[in-house]
Amino acid sequence: MSAVQVKNLSVQFGDFFAVKDLSFSVEKGEVFGFLGANGAGKTTTIRVLCGLLLPSAGQASVCGLDVLSDAFEVKKKVGYMSQKFTLYDDLTVKENLDFTSALRKMEPEKFREQKEKLLKMIRFKSSEDILVRDLPGGIKQQVSLVAAVLHDPEIVFLDEPTAGVSPAFRQRFWKLIGGLAAEGKTVFVTTHYMDEAEQCGRIALMKSGELIALDSPQELKRNSFPDREPQEVSLEDVFIEQVEGG
Ligand SMILES: Nc1ncnc2c1ncn2[C@@H]1O[C@H](COP(=O)(O)OP(=O)(O)OP(=O)(O)O)[C@@H](O)[C@H]1O
Ligand SMILES: [Mg+2]
Repeated sequence: MSAVQVKNLSVQFGDFFAVKDLSFSVEKGEVFGFLGANGAGKTTTIRVLCGLLLPSAGQASVCGLDVLSDAFEVKKKVGYMSQKFTLYDDLTVKENLDFTSALRKMEPEKFREQKEKLLKMIRFKSSEDILVRDLPGGIKQQVSLVAAVLHDPEIVFLDEPTAGVSPAFRQRFWKLIGGLAAEGKTVFVTTHYMDEAEQCGRIALMKSGELIALDSPQELKRNSFPDREPQEVSLEDVFIEQVEGG
């Protein structure tokens, strides 16, 4: 069973197609990169896959559950780190995680175990009583990741998790992504950083709501520039060629 299956999915806002006739699937345990220029439809697609937005047409399933008919069950299976809102700035780390666990109706024992494991995983050294607004940006994003996977979802959607974060923290964040994948979790991630995209197993390229390419970084390079040696092509070249039209 695929972790994600999308078939002829469209999302319309009035006359405008934010997502148009989109089809693809993601296998369990994949680190799947979802790339595209601003406004390409990445966040919109993720919101559909998390059961938060109804599509206008087509089908989508996550962990074998239909996002239209099983939205409630889908929400239990997925973790979501949204692009804009992640944690409450005026609450402490502890209060934020307590709140997440309450929303997710977690058993107290499971919550304690998961919190301990995940804070250890991100090597969280501050007091849990620190206000989120006082955390450095890179740490805040890591705590957001903890909140997104606290209930131990099978798949996690990370929408630009490293936007505005310094290189060292971005590298650290991708180590955490690798760790989740090694545990068998599926990671569906958007980014505008090509060095990050390079670390994905496969990459989908979106343009104006449509899928224009889907392959491994290596194959994307080969197919975009058949006359050049793949090792001489960067994903940046591919992105500019495919998404921004050369
Ligand atoms: N609720 C809405 N009503 C009307 N238009 C919307 C709505 N949500 C998104 N859009 C439009 O749909 C298009 C796709 O938006 P989306 O947020 O999915 O893009 P994105 O690929 O995530 O872009 P970014 O890289 O900037 O985050 C954009 O043109 C956006 O303005
Ligand atoms: Mg977006």
